Amino acid sequence: MPLFAAATAKRPVPTRDAGAASVILPEHYLRTPLTADLDRLCDPRRPAEDVLFVNVAAKYFFAYVYEGAHRAVVPLPEITRLFEQFSRHQSLNEDGDDVEVMNSLRQWSFALRMLADLPKTAHILRSVALRRLPPEVLERPYVGLDIGTGTGILMLAARIQARRNGFDEPEILGLEYDRPVAERSGRLTEDLGTGEVVFADARYVSTYSLIAGKDLSFVSNETVSATHQRLRREHFVKIFYALFDACKGRLKHTVFFPEGLIVYNKEMNVSVMLSRINGFQGTPEYETLDFYPQGLFIEGRVVPLHQLGEEFLPYLTQMGRSLISRRW
Ligand SMILES: C[S@@+](CC[C@H](N)C(=O)[O-])C[C@H]1O[C@@H](n2cnc3c(N)ncnc32)[C@H](O)[C@@H]1O
Repeated sequence: MPLFAAATAKRPVPTRDAGAASVILPEHYLRTPLTADLDRLCDPRRPAEDVLFVNVAAKYFFAYVYEGAHRAVVPLPEITRLFEQFSRHQSLNEDGDDVEVMNSLRQWSFALRMLADLPKTAHILRSVALRRLPPEVLERPYVGLDIGTGTGILMLAARIQARRNGFDEPEILGLEYDRPVAERSGRLTEDLGTGEVVFADARYVSTYSLIAGKDLSFVSNETVSATHQRLRREHFVKIFYALFDACKGRLKHTVFFPEGLIVYNKEMNVSVMLSRINGFQGTPEYETLDFYPQGLFIEGRVVPLHQLGEEFLPYLTQMGRSLISRRW
């Protein structure tokens, strides 16, 4: 009996030798299931080492494609093979590729591309997971909202954040408007006990009736375009506009990811910080201008987008660095 199967087709993991090359340095790969790493990170008495975030990101990537793999010890070569296949999934299959797996990668391509950027995903995971919540948030039930949840990886980060801040049963909701992604992420987050994914467009105020009357503890919105693309190409600003409209004044103590987004306009030669203070909208005179993302304010400091995740690169092999995709 195979331990896990491709999520859409319930097919077994390939048995051919996946080779000795690895995406993560073997000495940093923990031979534990995703669920065990997650339990470790959720326990506030245990240190949240950087290596755990890299392992969680890599194992989540594999478990997204191979249903049931979150409970298994997956050999590192199998994970590496999936990264290698993902690096060429937009092209034609090679001999020996599992057609169902390759087609799944194409179905979930955009969301997986974010997740598969292991160093940046690990950095974002850490920044969310280790946030200390303010007293006002600690006093009420934990409600997390991950907007544009993609694979649901930031819902997982929110769960760790909640657990490390003492909440045993956090309520976490993800919004996603790509149906195949929402369906797969919904099953995985249910399997992991992370929360619920709702198929919805987060640009509409009406979408937030889902959280009516609730005080949000944490909100993540990582619908940020690439540095060479206009910010408005993605829905970051529109989503926050709708959220702040729907929640009218109830986001005063909410913790956000990102805490701030720094964007640049070349005509005026200015950089602006979008944050909770301005509803992530900037100032009105900038409304008609084109902005390009430059950096995040996270972990109490400004991080240029190209440097995000640099601290996690030493966990990867040279081959791993060439295989991973890029968020920015
Ligand atoms: C850049 S990805 C980020 C995914 C995830 N948060 C992560 O960190 O890996 C953005 C996701 O938001 C979704 N999305 C974009 N605009 C949306 C909208 N208006 N409503 C719901 N989902 C949206 C996209 O389909 C995509 O899966």
